[in-house]
Amino acid sequence: MDNESTRPRPVSNGMEKIVSLAKRRGFVYPGSEIYGGLSGFWDYGPLGVALKKNIENLWWRMFVEDRDDMYGVDAAIIMHRKAWKASGHVEGFQDPLVECKKCHRRFRADYAEGECPECGGPLGGVKQFNMMFKTHVGVAEDESAVSYLRPETAGGIFVNFKNIVDSFHPKLPFGIAQIGKAFRNEIAPRDFIFRTREFEQMEVEYFVRGGEWEENFEMWRKLSLGFLESIGINGASIHELEVPPEDRAHYSKRTIDFEFDFPFGRKELFGLAYRTDFDLTRHEATSGVELKYLEEGGNKFTPHVIEPSFGVERIILAVLQTAYTEDKLGNEPRIYLKFNPAVAPIKAAVFPLLKNKPELVAKARGIYTELKKAVPQIMWDDNGNIGKRYRRQDEIGTIVCITVDFQTLEDQTVTVRNRDTGVQERFPISELEAQIRIS
Ligand code: GAP
Repeated sequence: MDNESTRPRPVSNGMEKIVSLAKRRGFVYPGSEIYGGLSGFWDYGPLGVALKKNIENLWWRMFVEDRDDMYGVDAAIIMHRKAWKASGHVEGFQDPLVECKKCHRRFRADYAEGECPECGGPLGGVKQFNMMFKTHVGVAEDESAVSYLRPETAGGIFVNFKNIVDSFHPKLPFGIAQIGKAFRNEIAPRDFIFRTREFEQMEVEYFVRGGEWEENFEMWRKLSLGFLESIGINGASIHELEVPPEDRAHYSKRTIDFEFDFPFGRKELFGLAYRTDFDLTRHEATSGVELKYLEEGGNKFTPHVIEPSFGVERIILAVLQTAYTEDKLGNEPRIYLKFNPAVAPIKAAVFPLLKNKPELVAKARGIYTELKKAVPQIMWDDNGNIGKRYRRQDEIGTIVCITVDFQTLEDQTVTVRNRDTGVQERFPISELEAQIRIS
């Protein structure tokens, strides 16, 4: 049965064009769409998956593989319920909520000032609402079987601190990274994939000596901005908000929200927090297992933590928004996604000029197959005429289109058309791979 919490809201916040393109071209679809949708849940289509993987792979390369002080984990989404008591989420992970006395719809308290935004009725007092999704593990449905879908990936990192120390004996400072799903039963999911109930996070917990948190905080601030640059989000579009103590999460002594100008306002894109020794201390006290770091020389202490935390959906939204461009090419209006090559889901498309000429199709197929071995994100396209193919490829942000024509059969050259300029040049087939790699 649908109700106010499960029924999706129409998007009407300046994102309409992006939402429509995302659906039309197979980036992001509304979750459970054939059943009318489910509020706060979205599904990725083939191009959305490719874009997401490109972003996550770059993050993982930059923050884990290219460094000697980082360790990756992939922890279970459902953890022992005591872990969420220890982290403070059972008691503290609340959002204030108000209910309309007339239509009984519920809203986040900060979205509803005065009267009900839906029916104009009077709003009741503020109640606290825990945002974790509760579930039962096993057949018993009593209190002892209760657990939660993790509201942040960080939890799975802290419970593995001791495992990493025991397996790898890392020297401080070192970090543990994880990319994975997080779930929050948001009262008011909204703004396309900006605020969802199921989303992905890319998080680092970087363990440092308590006295060294400030320089490490600064290091992660710079690295995080560097990551954004590498996926095409310019530093000038990011605004740093020093979060005041009363607005910080319960575990944080300093937080910067990195905000981005979305069409619906300047909002948090990702965060950087100094979590002190809160988590390890609490998990140690709750589990009874010592979670300290033993230095050479016998000194034992609880490390402090710097945490850069990225929401993948918000990064994707910022990437889509940054890339979305409307212009005129040869007096024809067009829409294209000016993706940074590093994240573009399709690097090149290969076409036969005419699909009813077997010799052209065979030649184009051969080129496509060879290129795909070297650069997997290559697409075959023989639908419609060349103009339609260019328009379609522009809309999905394909960097170059390669057309095989009759001249190709004679001199082994093809036309390479650039997405951003529309300029077409001929190149020998033997140079295509290099062309794609530098584009
Ligand atoms: N471990 C710290 C943490 O989870 P947070 O500020 O609650 O901190 C971190 O979340 C990031 O996760 C946010 O900056 C945002 O990018 C993303 N995020 C949080 N809630 C979200 C939601 N409901 N939908 C989409 N992304 C969300």
